[in-house]
Amino acid sequence: MPMPGALPSATMDMRHEASVPPVDLTRPKGLGKVPVPDLIRELIARVDGAPLDRELLRLLHELSNRIEPALRHPDNRFAPEHLQESLGTFWWWQQDVCPASVEGENVLELGAGAENPLALVTAMVLMGAAEGHALELTPPISDAEQARALSRLVCWLTLRREVFPKLDLADQRATIAANAKAFDVDRLAAGELLLPENVHLLVAKAERTGLADRSIHRVMSSSFLEHAEDPTAVVREIARVTASGGVSIHNVDVADHGTYWGEVESPVAFLLEAPGQAMVRGANRMRIHEHVRLFESHGFTLLKRNDYAHHEWNKRELRRRVPPYSTMQLDELEPIRSVLVFRRD
Ligand SMILES: C[S@@+](CC[C@H](N)C(=O)[O-])C[C@H]1O[C@@H](n2cnc3c(N)ncnc32)[C@H](O)[C@@H]1O
Repeated sequence: MPMPGALPSATMDMRHEASVPPVDLTRPKGLGKVPVPDLIRELIARVDGAPLDRELLRLLHELSNRIEPALRHPDNRFAPEHLQESLGTFWWWQQDVCPASVEGENVLELGAGAENPLALVTAMVLMGAAEGHALELTPPISDAEQARALSRLVCWLTLRREVFPKLDLADQRATIAANAKAFDVDRLAAGELLLPENVHLLVAKAERTGLADRSIHRVMSSSFLEHAEDPTAVVREIARVTASGGVSIHNVDVADHGTYWGEVESPVAFLLEAPGQAMVRGANRMRIHEHVRLFESHGFTLLKRNDYAHHEWNKRELRRRVPPYSTMQLDELEPIRSVLVFRRD
């Protein structure tokens, strides 16, 4: 039964809405050449506290409608697309060689990043992991930002699983719902970084995690091993903390990172310079097969190797390689991105 009065007021609202003209998106003259980052900085500086009239409100609404889809990108560490790629890499896409569930596991992410470091291990705790540790050298940029991101993450995994179209989370539903009770999403949404006791952020070096011997069942990293200044010490530490039969899953990008910032043209440019130098443009230059050998020499067996990006070397690049790359085989030099899955003996 309609509530008394509901129909007339709804009708009036509709009439009122119908009279609202479309939002005017005519572009002001003279701003066309201002770079987008500068426009955004100017907007941030001026919008806070600006008198909120109807036009501004409608323009802001339009802006938020446009910005949200633009942010739905795997490179945005706060987007569900990023979490989907991480969960896929470290769990879902490895089910052929790893346990099909993380229930009861202690999980560790190394080099988790300073933006939203707890996202992956929090998702795994929701999926039944016993303990989740995120380790990162750089302190997080903001506790409040992390808290708000984790509040959204709990909501996506409990209520909005459609934001992860590449993952079938149906089997996880009951576990996630039960474990979500340990999170106070309202306080997280208010910016308070209040976490259950089994979610830990370690601001530390991966070479010295402080974790107990053989205590971790799943070690994960993405775009981290290639940045380690002492990769042998890092892998020694991974070997120490990983339980027998535990898995170690690493997404490694061995391209010259100068390509991302336009400093160099080729992803192998750093193999043509500075022989003997440990780090070039933030990377240790180890090739994928060297990462594999390093793990194998520390008590790991390779379960799966998925080289998902390659570089086609030209004659000039081949001629100009410096040692030790000058004596490597082409099939060792071509892979530039790979997901490596190992089992601890
Ligand atoms: C390219 S970022 C990747 C961040 C994150 N995994 C991602 O994919 O967004 C590499 C991270 O590794 C961290 N890192 C580098 N060396 C480290 C070390 N020895 N111990 C801990 N973290 C380290 C850096 O501070 C940086 O945040």
